[in-house]
Amino acid sequence: MAASPVPATKGRILIVGATGFIGGFVAEASLAAGWPTYVLVRPGSDCPLKTSVIEALQEKGAIVIHGVINDQSLMEKLLKEHEIEIVISAVGGANILDQLTLIHAMKAVGTIKRFLPSEFGHDVDRADPVEPGLTMYKEKRSVRRCLEESGVPFTYICCNSIASWPYYDNTHPSEVLPPMDHFQIYGDGTIKAYFVAGTDIGKFTMMTVDDIRAINKSVHFRPTCNYLNMNELASLWEKKIGKVLPRVTISEDDLLAAAGENIIPQSIVASFTHDIFIKGCQINFTIDGPNEVEVSTLYPDESFRTIDECFDELAFKVEKDSEGHDEALKSNPVVEVLPITATA
Ligand SMILES: NC(=O)c1ccc[n+]([C@@H]2O[C@H](COP(=O)([O-])OP(=O)(O)OC[C@H]3O[C@@H](n4cnc5c(N)ncnc54)[C@H](OP(=O)(O)O)[C@@H]3O)[C@@H](O)[C@H]2O)c1
Repeated sequence: MAASPVPATKGRILIVGATGFIGGFVAEASLAAGWPTYVLVRPGSDCPLKTSVIEALQEKGAIVIHGVINDQSLMEKLLKEHEIEIVISAVGGANILDQLTLIHAMKAVGTIKRFLPSEFGHDVDRADPVEPGLTMYKEKRSVRRCLEESGVPFTYICCNSIASWPYYDNTHPSEVLPPMDHFQIYGDGTIKAYFVAGTDIGKFTMMTVDDIRAINKSVHFRPTCNYLNMNELASLWEKKIGKVLPRVTISEDDLLAAAGENIIPQSIVASFTHDIFIKGCQINFTIDGPNEVEVSTLYPDESFRTIDECFDELAFKVEKDSEGHDEALKSNPVVEVLPITATA
């Protein structure tokens, strides 16, 4: 069994992007694991949804500090003042290059023990999607090079796909239900991918942050229990909802056309979908380099939530939604019955 070296004390962690999709999972996991958790909130994040996310994190013990990562002197001040040791960034695709300034700040401060930049997807040095996804990967690559040059210790989280139906036009597909009317199958539906629950992205990310075995390495998430192709994913969902749905083919040309429309962010998702389910970018290489490791070899006793469990939860939501709809119908019989659709 591999040992998991855990330091006696837990240093302070700053999470950037905790009001976002992936950052939310990371912040929750950081608090659950008992890390002194600081969250950097951009001034102006005052929409009701974000405010409630921030309040929920504060109730669990998060300390909110205000700022933006693309202000170097402010970031140097905040990192010093709060004695931050570990920084995790989960900024979205539009803000990847903001991290360059953060790296300069961390280098200047000189006390950061680990930085996890906003990766949380594929190995961007290997994957080669068509545009406009390629531009985002080029930005992520430039962040990697700047970080390696800086000397700040790092870990790259390559967690593959979020566990859900992989809609080709939706950045956060786990926030919507899998299809209820028909499946869109990419190509012949036989190219496999790895699906990881958001909670596990958070949990395993937090396990790496002070693990010396993950220093200056890419950590790849390849849970064998969640290794499926589109046809298998569709059959699993059919089992959960108890009905067979028609399957419509979305061809390679369809995906390339959607990517070529260059509508951001949908076209970026289409280019990644093409890379995953047509080109097989998650599975066309082995993890055997000196600077990479598979997460299950680090933590062999830790289990992943299975896609089967995730789909059970989603099917339960479908059932609840339809019950709620039936109740509404009983109290207001003139309401027209609408099919449940899972649109992006
Ligand atoms: N594997 C997958 O399936 C998957 C799915 C989605 C995303 N990802 C990856 O995960 C990462 C995060 O993406 P996401 O979709 O979770 O992002 P998101 O939901 O758009 O959230 C971005 C977060 O970053 C914050 N932020 C942006 N610029 C900032 C700045 N300059 N200073 C401080 N905070 C800033 C935002 O703050 P505000 O609240 O102020 O906007 C927000 O909290 C990306 O690298 C993305 O490629 C992977």
